[in-house]
Amino acid sequence: MTHARWAESIAERAQAYWTAERTAQLLGDKQPIIRPAEGAVLLRALGLLGDDGSLPPGKVRKYFQINHMVALLSPALKALRERHAVVRLLDVGCGRSYLTLLLAWCAREVWNHPFEIRGVDRNAELVAESQRRADVAGLAVRFEVGDAGETVDAHAVVALHACDTATCAAIAAGIAGQADVIAVAPCCQAELARGWAALSDGAFAAVWRMPHLRRETAADVTDAMRSELLRSAGYDVLAMEFVPAEHTRKNTLIRAIRTGAPHPDAMAAYQALRDATGGVDIALARFLRPA
Ligand SMILES: C[S@@+](CC[C@H](N)C(=O)[O-])C[C@H]1O[C@@H](n2cnc3c(N)ncnc32)[C@H](O)[C@@H]1O
Repeated sequence: MTHARWAESIAERAQAYWTAERTAQLLGDKQPIIRPAEGAVLLRALGLLGDDGSLPPGKVRKYFQINHMVALLSPALKALRERHAVVRLLDVGCGRSYLTLLLAWCAREVWNHPFEIRGVDRNAELVAESQRRADVAGLAVRFEVGDAGETVDAHAVVALHACDTATCAAIAAGIAGQADVIAVAPCCQAELARGWAALSDGAFAAVWRMPHLRRETAADVTDAMRSELLRSAGYDVLAMEFVPAEHTRKNTLIRAIRTGAPHPDAMAAYQALRDATGGVDIALARFLRPA
């Protein structure tokens, strides 16, 4: 079967499957940017839709997660389209490219604006799989094996659940490259919790000695620290919930828009938070420190 015939066929099956009733059952009052009946080729390439066009229960969370992420990025990406004839976007720790390819699909099908999209991941197998998915979906995205800390030449840097300090590395690279938009949904921030494990005295001792509380608290404090460091580097920052906790507990999105004017109080706020919680720096602070 040719690719064109395959694409036509999955689109037909999805349209037949997604009756008004099934669509209403799935979406309720949500307005996702890609609906299963209309984005079947991409959603099948991503492995979210089954061969019959259905969305298996185990894939529903990922489907809503990437839709939410794009919805929250939309205003910032709209501003970039107004500013740049071709928007360059980098997805760091792109994994199997769910977000990367949805953004490429939106650029072509919804926004009708040229984007140069690149996905980088340190895992070569995932990079190969992402390239395969892009080919199946018919989307022009460049995937490369690389590290989160590599030089960035992009108007927007996104990182969805890049592991531990990879989020800090992606933010630092975005700052160094003067990206207009940096948007990260962090994951498993273990660094601060590791540093706190050695501490025992002080007001936070009750948190430090309980591994679970240490991890949970460290995640929020890490994100607050990242926000202040971004502000100190000339970004306006908003940390928000990006999907309801039922989809994933890693549901914070830090969205930073470059103004070029560092917030004068931000570095002091970072240092005060660090010192009040045990004096442990996060990787982003080290990345930003002059050599
Ligand atoms: C939890 S997965 C998320 C993948 C994808 N963004 C998504 O949401 O589906 C984290 C990804 O980050 C990648 N990663 C972790 N550390 C990295 C680093 N330092 N540089 C590049 N990629 C990294 C991993 O290989 C993995 O694919």
